[in-house]
Amino acid sequence: MPKIQFPEGFHWGTATASYQIEGAWDQDGKGESIWDRFCHTPGHIKKGQTGDAACDHYHRFREDVALMKELNQTSYRFSLSWPRIQPDGRGAINQKGLDFYGALVDELLQAGIRPFVTLYHWDLPQALEDAGGWPERDLAGRFSDYAEIVARALGDRVKHWMLFNEPKIFTVMGYLVGIHAPGRKDRDSFLRATHTVNRATGRAFAAMKAIDAGFEISNAFNMSPCAPLSDSAEDAAATTRWDAFVNRWFLDPALHGRYPDAFPAGLPAEAMGIRDGDLEEMRAPLDFVGINLYTRTLVKAVEDGNLNAADGSPGGGPDGPRTEFGSEVWPDALHDQILAVHRDYDAPIIEVTENGCSYGDGPDANGVVNDTRRIEFYRDFLAGVARAIEAGARVRGYHAWSLMDNFEWAKGYEQRFGLVWCDFESGRRIPKASAHWYAEAAARNGFEL
Ligand code: FCB
Repeated sequence: MPKIQFPEGFHWGTATASYQIEGAWDQDGKGESIWDRFCHTPGHIKKGQTGDAACDHYHRFREDVALMKELNQTSYRFSLSWPRIQPDGRGAINQKGLDFYGALVDELLQAGIRPFVTLYHWDLPQALEDAGGWPERDLAGRFSDYAEIVARALGDRVKHWMLFNEPKIFTVMGYLVGIHAPGRKDRDSFLRATHTVNRATGRAFAAMKAIDAGFEISNAFNMSPCAPLSDSAEDAAATTRWDAFVNRWFLDPALHGRYPDAFPAGLPAEAMGIRDGDLEEMRAPLDFVGINLYTRTLVKAVEDGNLNAADGSPGGGPDGPRTEFGSEVWPDALHDQILAVHRDYDAPIIEVTENGCSYGDGPDANGVVNDTRRIEFYRDFLAGVARAIEAGARVRGYHAWSLMDNFEWAKGYEQRFGLVWCDFESGRRIPKASAHWYAEAAARNGFEL
């Protein structure tokens, strides 16, 4: 028996997102998304790259599912492009878009792989951004309508859903910092966007459950365990605020119907546009907690008047080695965060919805990609997951980010997160050494350390 053993039925999966892999950005009736617009506008993306063609998964999805099967995968987390399904984000449905996802789901089921579907991984229909985007209250209703369309079309075959991928990242990066689509930089727009997303979670959750009470629904939350940079009382208080914002701002509204204490001056309710009844609307008894995690966070107090008077290190701490994305490799981070969620939220079912690393290792003269650092990364993080399970956490599955190298948002194609190498010119896929390692671990439901 392998030394590190997972419970029977544990899901071994990979994750992707529509804009990052599909390509076919304007085919078969798809509408424009904010990422299409953002990438087509010069100056936003490294080397001016776009997701126009990406991995051409739209045309190669059968080959990709065959690859997952070869790699012994039992779960596949992917996202739906809203404008492929509803080109303007309201009204008319594009049947060809729904047919594409229906065919993908059928292919997965035939291969014995669980379809694990995200409704929103950041590619908002541009028409909805033109109408105000996420800061606009109305979007919660539009999103809920879209969720109903999807649930009716795919719900006979798909039972496990995430509404939003990383609500904090897309609201911060898209509306506060402006380095992701739609590229806005406005504090109040950002605050209002977070509130719309929380209301949209509550509404879409209820709308989908009304269609099938057996659906299991959550979000994929980006999380990171936070520790103070020093032992000062200020840094300790800042850490509590930072943790409230990073790890709980989108979880507490759903599970508890309230916002956590993230700001020294209290909840900016007016700037957020909170109205009577909103807190009730946000509630959603999520069926599991999805965790996306890349590294840990060290926090210090700051006095420069940023939102919560705290600053968390985005790339982790100074002690571990770094991936080529710049983040510290800190395997305990996932273990610690799983146990924190287990402890603080009444032992929910947990799915690791993303975890992974960027290294540029490419094919050698024999076409072999020997990415040993990635093998070590997965081995050590997964060992941490196993320890958390031993300590009582109810972790049901793990999804490596990503199945294959893909379009990494503002960084373009330079950052390679895949288990499978993708040659973006020819479209050729080559499973890396890490893919073979992961396939073997999946087959044995564990591995030797
Ligand atoms: C996460 C995103 C995912 C990918 C990884 C590297 O924040 O959800 O799309 O870009 O980071």
